[in-house]
Amino acid sequence: MQKGLLDLHNVMRWLILLFALLAIIKSLSGMSGKKPFGKGDKRIALFLMICCDIQLLLGLVLYYLNGWWSVLIGGTSMASKYNRFFSVEHAVGMIVAIVLVHIGYSLTKKDIPDNTKFKHLFWYTLIAMLIILATIPWPGREVVGRPFFPGMSA
Ligand code: HEM
Repeated sequence: MQKGLLDLHNVMRWLILLFALLAIIKSLSGMSGKKPFGKGDKRIALFLMICCDIQLLLGLVLYYLNGWWSVLIGGTSMASKYNRFFSVEHAVGMIVAIVLVHIGYSLTKKDIPDNTKFKHLFWYTLIAMLIILATIPWPGREVVGRPFFPGMSA
């Protein structure tokens, strides 16, 4: 079961990056073209948030099943780069990014000018995406590197 959850967690990253990129591009074009904030814009932000929440749930289950919780409370998080990355850096970085995605989406529901909605969505999503990109265990990353897709080599 853990393998299936990890594979799903691996693949979900691409959906998140896709929706984040779309939200950034659409809000940038909305801001510069002074367009109305439409249903499509809100839907992309919503899909991004839903994918992030699924990823959070998968991550928390994996965190527990793969023993990272024991590493954290056992005080061995700093024992190696590998432990530090998965028990602290990856989990904390991603949770911060997911909170930013939630704030960005919730601000689109406020009664504020459309241009301000685009601006909020753009900045919150951009910062979230940068944190996500920085805390993904990309292939080739020393010690912690993982494959682009399940079954590939890192
Ligand atoms: C946007 C959010 C996230 C993205 C894009 C992401 C991405 C990834 C990727 C690409 C992997 C490697 C998968 C593989 O080995 O095939 C991974 C592993 C993992 N992630 Fe995440 N993750 C996110 C959020 C989280 C969160 C919030 C947690 C926990 C609180 C978490 C916990 C884990 C754990 C425990 C592993 C597996 C480490 C091991 O092999 O034991 N992830 N993540």
